[in-house]
Amino acid sequence: MNDSQRPNDRQRRPRASNNAGSEGFSDGRLVEVHNQLALDKEEPSEGFALLPVIIVFLFCGFGFWAGLYLTRNADSFNPGSFDLDAPRALADNGPREFEPDPVKGEKLFVMNCASCHQATGLGLPGAFPPLAGSPWVAGNEDRMIKIIIGGLAGELEVKGAKYIGAMPNIGANLKDAQVAHIATYVRQAWGNTAGPVTDAKVAEIRKAMGVHGSYSPAEILQAHPLETK
Ligand code: HEC
Repeated sequence: MNDSQRPNDRQRRPRASNNAGSEGFSDGRLVEVHNQLALDKEEPSEGFALLPVIIVFLFCGFGFWAGLYLTRNADSFNPGSFDLDAPRALADNGPREFEPDPVKGEKLFVMNCASCHQATGLGLPGAFPPLAGSPWVAGNEDRMIKIIIGGLAGELEVKGAKYIGAMPNIGANLKDAQVAHIATYVRQAWGNTAGPVTDAKVAEIRKAMGVHGSYSPAEILQAHPLETK
């Protein structure tokens, strides 16, 4: 307490006793009441209580655990981590193993391809070539992966019919796994019987393509001639 406060204290005390009459409390009575009130309070103790310390530690521990949990499971906050195509992590958190999944492929096909090639895979005569029974789809998968990622424009023939149109580079905006699911689906739907496609294969082709504009049918066929007619 500093000196400037003392006069105030002194002033207050006389006033309290002056008022005692009107409020009905003498000094002695005040002390008595105060003592009684003090009895109800716990005795102040030295040292510190253990419980708050434990709670602080629990909170720190919880924060640490939450951080660890996020780092392990947030997949670097990658917005695509809950996508249909997300490769399933193995139960033991080991390396992720890709399973080409025609069911996911079908959903992705409907979203990305069916507007032109139709859900039936039959395309539209004169505009969009069929994928069902197409020799472009069968055989070596590199051809279709390149078409999906790079796009295709120019005249081509599918199952005896000529088409001259342009397919956009849909796959440029899709992930390797998504392209793999779609390619797997297309190669096995509507009676097609080609093998599945892995995301690793798509990644390999994408890397080899580098920055590549739309393919012409001639360029694709030169690199990957049709195995069947
Ligand atoms: C905007 C319309 C459009 C979309 C969407 C589209 N394509 Fe195409 N696609 C075409 C056209 C047009 C051609 C023929 C291009 C040409 O004439 O050179 C073609 C050709 C192809 C071919 C080779 C020819 C054949 O019939 O086998 C394949 C394979 C193919 N598309 C697969 C796909 C897949 C898979 C998707 C979805 C990822 C897709 N396309 C999305 C329009 C489209």
